[in-house]
Amino acid sequence: MTRRTFFDRIFAALFGSTALAFAGSALAYLYPNRNFISGTRQFSNMAGQPILAKEIGEGQFKSGVALGSPVIVQRQNGELLALSAVCTHLGCTVSYIEDEQIFRCPCHGGEYDLDGSVLDGPPPRPLPRLNVKVEEDGKIIIS
Ligand code: FES
Repeated sequence: MTRRTFFDRIFAALFGSTALAFAGSALAYLYPNRNFISGTRQFSNMAGQPILAKEIGEGQFKSGVALGSPVIVQRQNGELLALSAVCTHLGCTVSYIEDEQIFRCPCHGGEYDLDGSVLDGPPPRPLPRLNVKVEEDGKIIIS
């Protein structure tokens, strides 16, 4: 092996490993961060206090966490409906826009209706609907 070949290989290895590091970071950023496995099933506010079913009136929304992810629980026609608040595009958390009665993602402008269906923007799927159960003491359990 000549000296020139040796240095060519060293530079190729350095360039290749740097390119791999950048590609790995880019892929990690693009892959949605959805973790529905960890965390308690109880619907709670950010301080960890349970949000009770009686606190959600007809047509109202509560944002909180369950299963380690942001969740929105709303009451429609007397029934509680839970949606994941994780945008199906790249995993940002959607917010309720009261004036327009929609959920909007702050990252790329994705919009969802109150049932979680996509109205506009890049999201490929509706917001996932989650199972809701109300315990006797009024705590909301998400699964
Ligand atoms: S992450 Fe929500 S629109 Fe892109």
